[in-house]
Amino acid sequence: MSATTLYDNHGRPINYLRLAVTDRCNLRCFYCMPEEGIKYLPKKDLLTFEEIERLVTLLASMGISKIRLTGGEPFVRTDLMQLIRRISVIEGIKDIHLTTNGILTRPHISELKSLGIASVNLSLDTLNKERFKLITRRDEFENAWETLQLLLKHEIPVKINTVVMEDKNIEDIASMVELTKHHPISIRFIEEMPFNGEGNHYAKLKWTHKEILDHIKLFYPTIQKVKDAENSTAYHYQIPGYAGYIGIIAAFTRSFCGTCNRIRITAQGVLKTCLYDDGVLNIKNLMREGKGNDDLRNELLRAFAHRPKDGFEAEEKRKTLNVMESMSTIGG
Ligand code: GTP
Ligand code: 5AD
Ligand code: SF4
Repeated sequence: MSATTLYDNHGRPINYLRLAVTDRCNLRCFYCMPEEGIKYLPKKDLLTFEEIERLVTLLASMGISKIRLTGGEPFVRTDLMQLIRRISVIEGIKDIHLTTNGILTRPHISELKSLGIASVNLSLDTLNKERFKLITRRDEFENAWETLQLLLKHEIPVKINTVVMEDKNIEDIASMVELTKHHPISIRFIEEMPFNGEGNHYAKLKWTHKEILDHIKLFYPTIQKVKDAENSTAYHYQIPGYAGYIGIIAAFTRSFCGTCNRIRITAQGVLKTCLYDDGVLNIKNLMREGKGNDDLRNELLRAFAHRPKDGFEAEEKRKTLNVMESMSTIGG
């Protein structure tokens, strides 16, 4: 079936699916989960590869053309490459992206390249081994760093995701910007959101997109705004003469909802039409109850026709008032 354009009730096209393949992770990042971890889902509660393939095929026929695999850490799910191979031949899926922490990624980079992966977003919050250990509670900096080098060597487009945290990695901001001098990468500084499995870390977020930009300007007063791609989560900048870009993602301020083209499927197979909602449709249950594709399509269309206009409306409509989920379950 050929792809059509899918619109939500606010006239926004929906063409981007973020799919969490697992809620498990081999790191314990401060902003994502408590030190002791979260209670992981039993394996039977994860979507199987067959269920994912069916769902992606259906969504592609409805208008989804971009897919990002997330987790938890996607490579903690054994045989992830098998899933990528299967998704890469689904009609209508034009590009596949991956968000990874880079710890288990290296052995798969050359196959990712040959499968035509569109880009890899690497979560890396510091360039300092000791601070990496404090933030992720694991001693794995070299692994992530070598993954970055290998991705660059294979000329796979790379974006680095850096969550900005008071008392944790402010001293890294300038040196991360400096990485864009010779490398054609985007470093994206992200406002910390309260999805850490234990509730809000702060009464008021200090490091908003504005504070982050002001901080960068102290070191790089010549920084220039550049054009953002349509539907971009990041506001982009560049230091004149540098090869790469700097992005700032106002994930908590939520100033880019007006162009949001994303839906999410969590590790347990629940549809989220906004990062800040608490799940609007349990697709896994529908599939396991034996529902056919027409029923699934109708349920999905109904959910897309009731999308909140922004992350604030989604948060207000939550059944549970406080955002206590871990990003590892949501998929980022
Ligand atoms: P691109 O496809 O490269 O634009 O990546 P992305 O920004 O969609 O994905 P990535 O997994 O790298 O996420 C980077 C950060 O942006 C994470 O902290 C996400 O949670 C955040 N983010 C992505 N989509 C949304 C969104 O719809 N709303 C909010 N508030 N944050 C988002
Ligand atoms: N706030 C902001 N970004 C987060 N991420 C994970 N948890 C949070 C949070 N609480 C980011 C990571 C990862 C991306 C998918 O989400 O940087 O790269
Ligand atoms: Fe793991 Fe990613 Fe969460 Fe860090 S942000 S604990 S790498 S899922």
